[in-house]
Amino acid sequence: MMTELRQPADERGANPGTVRAPEADPRAKDGGETGGAAAADGPVVVEVQDVHKEYHTSGHVVQALRGVSVSIRRGTFAAIMGASGSGKSTLLHLLGGLTPATRGRIVIEGHDLARMTDRQRTHFRRRRMGVIFQDYNLLSTLTAAENVALPHLVDGNSARRSAGRVAELLALVHLSHRADHRPDAMSGGEQQRVAIARALLNDPAIVLADEPTGNLDSTQSFEIWRLMQRVAHEQGKTIVMVTHEAAGAAFADRVIVIKDGVVVGELHPKGSGDAALVATGYQELAG
Ligand SMILES: Nc1ncnc2c1ncn2[C@@H]1O[C@H](COP(=O)(O)OP(=O)(O)OP(=O)(O)O)[C@@H](O)[C@H]1O
Ligand SMILES: [Mg+2]
Repeated sequence: MMTELRQPADERGANPGTVRAPEADPRAKDGGETGGAAAADGPVVVEVQDVHKEYHTSGHVVQALRGVSVSIRRGTFAAIMGASGSGKSTLLHLLGGLTPATRGRIVIEGHDLARMTDRQRTHFRRRRMGVIFQDYNLLSTLTAAENVALPHLVDGNSARRSAGRVAELLALVHLSHRADHRPDAMSGGEQQRVAIARALLNDPAIVLADEPTGNLDSTQSFEIWRLMQRVAHEQGKTIVMVTHEAAGAAFADRVIVIKDGVVVGELHPKGSGDAALVATGYQELAG
């Protein structure tokens, strides 16, 4: 079953853009997940169907996810918000195929992750997914250009073959002038932009980011959120970003709100940057 959350008609007046999961009403015309042009009618790239995740540690069980369903279209910038421990990173790890779901299905670009061998999953992840970490994960001995090219170098391609693509990506993240800088000669925001360029090297379908601005000041954070929005809308990437910050989530098309391992609803800032709308809506859903 594909679950598209829609805004119930009778709630639209109260707080525009808020959708509560339990009353989902397919007749509502809000158009919820339509953010960028590509997102409106693009194919579904990420499908999460009734996913449960249990961790078994030292004799007891943690139910990190308890029946999450969501689908995300191509070209959508989606944010995931929720309190600490609500299951956000767990969901991202599952989307990345890094850990299996206990129950339910995760389908990326039509491929059920659970039906792949470990090798197929690793290959799929390298080809179709880009990952961005809070601490950038750049190699300190490599320049910005070499860090962007790293996935190609690991695959055995020569730096020369990647040069054109790397230059294109550094221009995209507005860092052509820093191509020869090593990470310690770049600001945190610049380093994260290098990491975003690296995540895009293989032209992935989806980009997963867990608190990508967690170490950045607000000016640099805004640059990253705007960049992610641009990458989703202009390049047709599906971006899933975990964040605590309403200001950042407001740049997303959709904000999926998780509480205690379930989706309690959704907000649709539609990339407006309206942090107040997200903060209020989030409080209503998760507070
Ligand atoms: N490897 C693990 N083994 C056991 N329990 C885990 C493991 N990873 C996460 N958990 C538990 O699962 C729940 C969800 O964790 P998760 O990391 O997904 O939360 P989160 O929403 O990302 O929180 P935060 O905002 O603090 O990063 C928490 O109760 C956590 O303690
Ligand atoms: Mg987390």
